[in-house]
Amino acid sequence: MISSPPLPLTATTTCPDLGPVFAALWRDHGPVAPVELEPGVHAWLVMGYEELKFLTGTPELFSRDGRDWRAFQDGTVGPDSPLGPMMFFRDNVIGYDGAEHRRLRRPLEDAIAAIDHRRLRRTVESLCSDLIAGFAERGTADLVAEYAAAVPLLTIGDLIGLDPGQSRELLDAMRALFGSQEDSQEGNRRFEALLGGLAESRRAAPSDDLTSLLLRHPDLRTEAEALQAIVVLVSAGNHTTISWIAQTLRLMLVDPRFASRVRGGRLGIDDALDEVLSVAPPMINMPARYARRDTELGGKAIARGDALVLGLAGVAHDPRAHGGRAFWQSGNRAHLAWGAGPHACLARDPARTIARTAVATALHVLRDLHLTVDPASLGFEPSPWTRCPAALPVSFTATFPRPTARPTV
Ligand code: HEM
Repeated sequence: MISSPPLPLTATTTCPDLGPVFAALWRDHGPVAPVELEPGVHAWLVMGYEELKFLTGTPELFSRDGRDWRAFQDGTVGPDSPLGPMMFFRDNVIGYDGAEHRRLRRPLEDAIAAIDHRRLRRTVESLCSDLIAGFAERGTADLVAEYAAAVPLLTIGDLIGLDPGQSRELLDAMRALFGSQEDSQEGNRRFEALLGGLAESRRAAPSDDLTSLLLRHPDLRTEAEALQAIVVLVSAGNHTTISWIAQTLRLMLVDPRFASRVRGGRLGIDDALDEVLSVAPPMINMPARYARRDTELGGKAIARGDALVLGLAGVAHDPRAHGGRAFWQSGNRAHLAWGAGPHACLARDPARTIARTAVATALHVLRDLHLTVDPASLGFEPSPWTRCPAALPVSFTATFPRPTARPTV
């Protein structure tokens, strides 16, 4: 069983510097550390590279099915827990293992493979320019709320076949849904209505979008399965890509090594994107796997039904490598930011196109870009999973984006 008192998992995402937090976890516990998900709800944080590969590569021992979680079975975690959306069973590719998982994953792989990257880049450039046009004349902006937070969903909306107005509606519905305020139920209804309406219209008149592809995919047996595949595309790619864009912009704005690139110099956007993946990945911690029986991992006794969280940032602080200091050098893509094993992310290429284009467009169009606050005062959204800057207040010289002003990425 898990001993106490474990560290709250949010301490690993919201701290100003990841280094000391992960150094202490490694020092005190080694590659598998006890953590607290919410008061009284414990899990294991798996940070060792070998242990992570074993955890994600052995579904017969560690399942992806939230119904195997003891804290869910015995009611320790209530149905309204904020952990639910990320940890409860999902009746789609996320929630299954083995043959059923492979069947549900194939259509998504085919959909991702069908994306035309040149068209995707043009779409992202165009919607980024539109977002910038909304605040350009002001000369100031919050690059998280007004930019990074909108780009991924508007892009995915286009890929699945929503028109720009509907993508905006989807963005508003998602904000209400995840805002956990009184309009969150209404947000959920609008979200379902929009995607349901889209599926219905493409069933009647197929087009060249990903929704039409999923609806006719032979591995998806019902309309409900096709709809779930669309929901997964929308939800799995949103917060992850927001975080990646926001963290990369933050790095480039606060780190003197990137200052010349912000002004048009050499150290590139891909370097900044890769450094974020290696040192502070968008998913700092990824939920979860559930032990199917009593076992052992990294020297810890794991009980049947325990939850194990993928420590995707903790792995960069392994004291057995680089003396425990998160390490990155140009060109190095050796990290586990995309996960590993059968459930590893299948959308790395489009995610990179979206993130790179969003960062490049901002740096290209917004001249003399700089933060208007002390970098040390920049906080992070309170989430146990992602490390997304809460805000990036900037000022810049207003250059209204014109169709000819396109960056080369
Ligand atoms: C267009 C953007 C994206 C889409 C559509 C997307 C989609 C997905 C999907 C569908 C899965 C589940 C695969 C399965 O269960 O078989 C997944 C897994 C994952 N994604 Fe992505 N993703 C996107 C961006 C990102 C980004 C930017 C990151 C972070 C760098 C990321 C990190 C992960 C991780 C760590 C997993 C593994 C989950 C696990 O093993 O439990 N994804 N992604």
